[in-house]
Amino acid sequence: MVEPIRATTRADRESLLKTAAYNLFLLKAEDVTIDLLTDSGTSAMSAQQWGRMMEGDESYAGAKSFFRFEAAFQRIMGFKYILPVHQGRAAERILFTTVVRKGQIVPNNTHFDTTRANLEYVGAQAVDLPIDEAADFESPYPFKGNMHIPKLRELLKKEGPARVPLVLMTVTNNSLGGQPVSLSNIREASQVCREFNIPFYLDACRYAENAFFIKKREQSQGRRSTREIAREMFSYAQGCTFSAKKDALANIGGMLGLQSEEWARKCKNLLVLTEGFPTYGGLAGRDLEAIAQGVDEALDETYLEYRIASTTYLGKHVAEAGVPIVHPVGGHAIFIDAKAFSPHIPPQHFPAQALGCELYLHAGIRGVEIGSLMFGRTDPESKAFVPSRNELLRLAIPRRAYTQSHIDYVVEAILDVYRNRDQIRGLRIVEETSPLRHFTARLEPII
Ligand code: F0G
Repeated sequence: MVEPIRATTRADRESLLKTAAYNLFLLKAEDVTIDLLTDSGTSAMSAQQWGRMMEGDESYAGAKSFFRFEAAFQRIMGFKYILPVHQGRAAERILFTTVVRKGQIVPNNTHFDTTRANLEYVGAQAVDLPIDEAADFESPYPFKGNMHIPKLRELLKKEGPARVPLVLMTVTNNSLGGQPVSLSNIREASQVCREFNIPFYLDACRYAENAFFIKKREQSQGRRSTREIAREMFSYAQGCTFSAKKDALANIGGMLGLQSEEWARKCKNLLVLTEGFPTYGGLAGRDLEAIAQGVDEALDETYLEYRIASTTYLGKHVAEAGVPIVHPVGGHAIFIDAKAFSPHIPPQHFPAQALGCELYLHAGIRGVEIGSLMFGRTDPESKAFVPSRNELLRLAIPRRAYTQSHIDYVVEAILDVYRNRDQIRGLRIVEETSPLRHFTARLEPII
């Protein structure tokens, strides 16, 4: 299938961006030339996936497609209970609503925004425990996604299983630059959890990319297949939340995997109530087929080699020209450090959002802000603005969608914007809702 790409003029984009209130989520996709908003649900599906979709069994209960879905996940991950859901955040909501209580704490290497929001929604506290190297964008440390093990131990020792119902580990660590987590870090985190009798779960959205990084970067892992490494990663976990929109190369879908019979039973009760019967979980039989095929294809090392090379190519070419990015380049995206790119814009004027708007105005490229628009807060007491720790613009690469020439176009556009970076102006919010205000906020440029 060929999808046309619409070319627009700068004058078109100025008007389109104004109508979208300087929020890139509010643009129409057809008005975007290269869409790097997300790698989620944007994969091009393979001929095998389309073929399997024709075999979708749309029975309400006990569909063949479910058993293929279940078998595919069990082969790769080994979890006993496989619950289909409509996407990753549904798995989060079902798990947290079932096992997390108000006032409890859930640690993670770094929570993704929906994970954090779903925990806060049930009244729990989401605590991030990244390693120190993650804060240094220049550090070449190969596993900057790792969890800070001494801090994890300290927290579990202080709070214990009564206050910590589970520990999560996000692979790869999306919010901190798509950085991988090492196999030894996953093993250590799971051992600490076992010491305190606390379940250890993976947020496994990008498990295949993480496993490939382990193969490439971790000592003594180079000779193993990505599949074997993935299997070992999952062997340390008692379950996972999973978005099939990433490393299952599907356009929709998700999964909640569990080993605990008791948790699975409780989660299924809620699943029936809000997603659907446990053999379809809010998905069509044909979606289950596409996911079952895709979750396996994502482990293909030729595909992974190309994917990681393409992301690295983009990062390398802009970094060589001086553009400040998070190093080393992660799996699914490059992250431009907008604080360093436009030091003249203070955090309260959203430097990464301003950079995203400029890249759209210049070349029709859409990225996403991971900074103070997403994470900044107003302190409820002092009413002071509390900025996000980082101001990043993420350019995420959809899987199997763009070619080298598209990536070259992106490199050129970033370099043009970089040369004229002094011209970028900050933004102010004129209307917002919460939580997750970045999806809907309306902004205007500061003249
Ligand atoms: N966990 C991580 C690490 C994610 O990156 C995402 C989604 C989710 C959970 C939720 O999954 O979208 O299927 O509900 N990330 C997308 C992104 C939206 O653009 O990074 P979902």
